[in-house]
Amino acid sequence: MAFTIKKICCIGAGYVGGPTMSVIAQQCPDIQITLVDMNTERIAAWNDPDLDLLPIYEPGLSDIVAEARGRNLFFSTNVEKAIDEADMIFISVNTPTKNYGKGKGMAADLKYIELCARQIADVATSDKIVVEKSTLPVRTAAALKSILHNTGSSVNFHILSNPEFLAEGTAVQDLLNPDRVLIGGEHKEAIQALVDIYARWVDRDRILTTNLWSSELSKLTANAFLAQRVSSINSISELCEKTGADVQEVAKAIGMDTRIGSKFLKASVGFGGSCFQKDILNLVYIARSYNLQEVADYWEQVILMNNHQKQRFADNIIQTLFNTVNGKKIAILGWAFKKDTNDTRESAAIYVADHLLNEQADIFVYDPKVPAEKVFVDLDYLNSRPDAETRRLVSVSEDPYEACKDAHAIAILTEWDEFKTYDWSRIKSNMKSPSFIFDGRKLLDRTQLEELGFVYYAIGE
Ligand code: UDX
Ligand code: UDX
Ligand code: ADP
Repeated sequence: MAFTIKKICCIGAGYVGGPTMSVIAQQCPDIQITLVDMNTERIAAWNDPDLDLLPIYEPGLSDIVAEARGRNLFFSTNVEKAIDEADMIFISVNTPTKNYGKGKGMAADLKYIELCARQIADVATSDKIVVEKSTLPVRTAAALKSILHNTGSSVNFHILSNPEFLAEGTAVQDLLNPDRVLIGGEHKEAIQALVDIYARWVDRDRILTTNLWSSELSKLTANAFLAQRVSSINSISELCEKTGADVQEVAKAIGMDTRIGSKFLKASVGFGGSCFQKDILNLVYIARSYNLQEVADYWEQVILMNNHQKQRFADNIIQTLFNTVNGKKIAILGWAFKKDTNDTRESAAIYVADHLLNEQADIFVYDPKVPAEKVFVDLDYLNSRPDAETRRLVSVSEDPYEACKDAHAIAILTEWDEFKTYDWSRIKSNMKSPSFIFDGRKLLDRTQLEELGFVYYAIGE
């Protein structure tokens, strides 16, 4: 029996659920989509008439929300009503790394997913297609199934895995024009119902269907491979700094080999974001749980290399500033984990700042999209020192020139385009001498800065 999808509900209105449902709503005006979240502030922000106040910043997103909101896109805290009315339910809640108990620091915490499954089981009175959108460990669908199929009710649930491959900062473009859409499942008609939704704007040959487990594992594997490329080029960046090779030249030379490809070879202060580290830790945990030690050790190295890159970047600042940063002002430009997002989860900036704070540096942060409270929450979360001390040592500026005034050094940790257009001569004249720049993104122009009198260090040069 073919399914007709008239109403969709998505549980979790975050970085994945928000943009994904906005784009589906834009592309399918005849389907009513309700995004629900238990976080009332977040839902209020999604409903705010001022589109600058949406909870998530993504280029192009506010236009889409403006177009679809109130027409066929709704934001609500009434989770149960939305579940009950929907033909198809996306689960897009967060799956953070467990910070307690068995698998602490490694395994994915599935408590939010389980809660969703139980809520769906309790509320549903008609048949539903349940779609896993969140990144989940392989065989989570089995847990979902077991909860949903043991409710004692006569309601049928069909479970699909439809991992999201969008990257933050380019979410809207990635959703509108995906490399591929992946749908895993067992029930043919349920798979077809989801294929038909995407097929409204994605070429059929880019819509891939697999079994549930392949779909779940592909998502973890894709993120592990992407992160591995960054760790691989970062490992070479350190070798370049010792030998006189230039990592950008090396990246270009190897990237022209079509078997390697040119993307994702940008050496940096280290990858961040909510996915890479979490998903690899998860992969490592799963491999260990099957007693595949070599597999686990292989992937764990990607994380260890990334930790090393952040650490050595901070160490280099300290060493260059004559082995002490105590009481010295260091400006950090960029706090987000990459440009064009206000997301700071696992951002390298947090770890670099924390390391410098351990050495009693005075840190001034400027980021065009990250509010001050987020900077403090991120640092407090590490629990490295009393919150009051963090507030004594860290200031957040709303003006980059203010952040850099009287600084001994500037560290560039996010590749925001606007940093390239600053009046660097003005910044230089207001800094301490010697004036150091540590470019963790190889964003700025060495020749220009050296002419202005800066001492310039970049990753991999
Ligand atoms: C390699 C490089 O490809 C080439 O650029 C360099 O100049 C010399 O080294 P070669 O060793 O001749 O060339 O063959 P290649 O096709 O790279 O295969 C190397 C090994 O990897 C083979 O045993 C091949 O079977 C294996 N391989 C390759 C795989 O197992 N899986 C793959 O997907 C690709
Ligand atoms: C990633 C995957 O790209 C996406 O497919 C998946 O759905 C979620 O995880 P995201 O974390 O949003 O997306 O951003 P991404 O562009 O992958 O960047 C991750 C981190 O790697 C950032 O900190 C970025 O600065 C860093 N990076 C990326 C590099 O340091 N060098 C590169 O060449 C590429
Ligand atoms: P992601 O990057 O995966 O989208 P986010 O943390 O941005 O992660 O978004 C996940 C959202 O899911 C959060 O806003 C959180 O409040 C919401 N959420 C988690 N569990 C539930 C639940 N049981 N019911 C409703 N919303 C939930």
